[in-house]
Amino acid sequence: MADRPRMIVDCDPGHDDAVALVVAAHFGDLVAITTVGGNAPLIDVTNNALLTCQLFGIDAPVHAGSTRPLVAEPRHAPEVHGVGGFDGPTLPPLNRSVASHDAVEFLIETIRAEEGLWLIPTGPLTNVALVFRTAPDVAGRLAGVSFMGGSATVGNHTPVAEFNALVDPEAMSVVLDSGARIIMSGLDLTYQFPVDDTLAMHLGAVARPRRDGPVVNPGALLLADLVANYLDQLERLTGLRLGGLHDPCAVLAVTHPSVVSTSMRHVQVELAGTLTRGMTVVDQRRGEPTANRGRPNVAHGHTLDHRRALSLVMDAIKAKGAVSGDPASATSHSSNSTPLGPWSPSTRSSTPSEPGPNSMPSQPAPGTPSRPPSGNRQPPTNPTTVS
Ligand code: BDR
Ligand code: CA
Repeated sequence: MADRPRMIVDCDPGHDDAVALVVAAHFGDLVAITTVGGNAPLIDVTNNALLTCQLFGIDAPVHAGSTRPLVAEPRHAPEVHGVGGFDGPTLPPLNRSVASHDAVEFLIETIRAEEGLWLIPTGPLTNVALVFRTAPDVAGRLAGVSFMGGSATVGNHTPVAEFNALVDPEAMSVVLDSGARIIMSGLDLTYQFPVDDTLAMHLGAVARPRRDGPVVNPGALLLADLVANYLDQLERLTGLRLGGLHDPCAVLAVTHPSVVSTSMRHVQVELAGTLTRGMTVVDQRRGEPTANRGRPNVAHGHTLDHRRALSLVMDAIKAKGAVSGDPASATSHSSNSTPLGPWSPSTRSSTPSEPGPNSMPSQPAPGTPSRPPSGNRQPPTNPTTVS
């Protein structure tokens, strides 16, 4: 199809990054995937990206990128996504491997070779900032950068800072100042896409249409269990089984622009505040320009057509996750003795991946101790009121 946008997703899976990859592969031409340390250390999120490709039949090469932010100390989100980023399900053996360990160089070469690509970061912006710093010429060759990060309202990792922005605010600042066309899907948008037990049930029904029947969509089963674990974690942290399906919004803003309504705004990120580091400041003032007003540099996503977004996401998962090319993955899930209905979250019993010659090291062994929570990522009581 001529109007399928060609894109690279830069991610740190995380269940919502995984969904973003599936949506990108279904509705766009997913040229490649790059990974960045974020929700979990780089080795884990890279394995998770590879596993997503394996289960959903995605052929895009995976290039591993930055292990740590530009300036700040690394921080991860074990309290939300688990130590390995994909906690919850029983993970099947990994039979994919990375294409390279130099995502930044890959991105520069690829963007220089092909004009008009979309870059879709769904994790901390470290790789993208390194690309723009190393090769400032590439910003103008992109169709744009559509990132998930920041917020015009509440934060999740601190009262005012969203996780991706907080992990590497210096990188976000580089990207905001790059001159590239930018679309921002912040928490004020992405909390309009609720993750709750209903979504987990939908995913479970796609995975296994008959409760006693076979798994027909192993990808959906993985996502159902990841979502169930995410909801368990959120309930423990906040008392609510409610979150946002953040990362697919950044893809939908490109593949289905009518799903995300945007306004041009001046956006900056706080680098110095004691209480506000990582906060994105979105200038939403109306009226006459004043001297103290920056040039609009970002198309700020503020309103999501969440029914359409949900329908598109489910279409992508149904199409890409159905059993086809990789029976081994399906067998690994369906032969598991643990009941895997999404409404009865499965016990994690991690299956170590079998690294190929270039693959990243395997998932953490069962029983790897959790690090203490590094923050409280509390969703609002009613996500639709956040914006
Ligand atoms: C963002 O942080 C991560 O936990 C999610 O994958 C998403 O990219 C939401 O704040
Ligand atoms: Ca992410």
